[in-house]
Amino acid sequence: TGKGWMSEHLVQYQGFWLSPKGLNNLMWIQHHFKPRPSDIFLASFPKTGTTWLKALVFATVNRTRYGFSDHPLLTANPHDCFPFLDAYLHENDPSFLELDASPTPRLLSTHLPYALLPDSMIVNRSSSCRFVYIYRDPKDVLVSKWNFLSKLRPKELPPFSLEEAFELFCQGISHYGPYWDQVLGYWKASSEFPENILFLKYEDLKEQPLAVVKRLGEFLGYPFSLEEENKGVVEDIVKLCSFENLSNLEVNRKSVHKFSRDSLVDNRHFFRKGIVGDWKNCLTDEMIKRLNQITSDKLFGPGLLFDN
Ligand code: A3P
Repeated sequence: TGKGWMSEHLVQYQGFWLSPKGLNNLMWIQHHFKPRPSDIFLASFPKTGTTWLKALVFATVNRTRYGFSDHPLLTANPHDCFPFLDAYLHENDPSFLELDASPTPRLLSTHLPYALLPDSMIVNRSSSCRFVYIYRDPKDVLVSKWNFLSKLRPKELPPFSLEEAFELFCQGISHYGPYWDQVLGYWKASSEFPENILFLKYEDLKEQPLAVVKRLGEFLGYPFSLEEENKGVVEDIVKLCSFENLSNLEVNRKSVHKFSRDSLVDNRHFFRKGIVGDWKNCLTDEMIKRLNQITSDKLFGPGLLFDN
């Protein structure tokens, strides 16, 4: 075991770090979850853009169901429209029943590394369920995560320093980490099964949201028609899911999200700055050098690079 970011003990399981609760959830999924061929999974390491991508996938898949003036994303946090498979599904939890009754395609998300997914979810030649994976410059992931967890940290605990967070992150000790190993697992799977696993980068989404959303539509089996494109539907989705729009909605300023019976998070904490390169304002030259080195050692081979 190792001491986690929130002072709780994380356990190492098959090379990855999970909280004891996360491990229980994994066991639950292994034994009880039955994927359907139409399922759409969003996989990510925490703080890589999960909330944003949930909104984009939800809006893309459901675009004929809802109008843009009374869209669910205007009154609900994206996490409430797109549940976490590994965060709040327990055998006796009513959400388990909702999962069975939820409409097709089911939208489910996970922070689990690909190697820990149950066999029933692993992609093979005959599977038709789809995964969208998002990754992000680890320097921004670290900064985002440290800010997020500092806000959630119980007041009675001493503040958690960036130096401490940095050290643990570099050693791979963080929920669902090591980060680089998680990225590599999904990358390998996506290069073997590109029709089932779409590999996206937060920085590309920031730079070219329209192109990425069009690709998302096509990949998920909901391609945008020429008529839709001419009507500006892709632009409308990008606008609806923009940082400015989502972070300013009342639901994301005032309400909380219930991840599980005992974990509540203010919706506003999912929206901080939403930019590329905030690490430049927070990390020392030494930290930058060390993180870049780990990243190039691990991800240079597959060509998963970032602007330094
Ligand atoms: P920052 O802390 O760098 O601002 P996750 O959803 O995986 O927890 O990731 C959270 C990160 O995504 C935060 O990054 C958050 O601000 C950013 N984010 C949330 N919504 C976004 C949006 N609509 N557009 C761009 N970034 C967004």
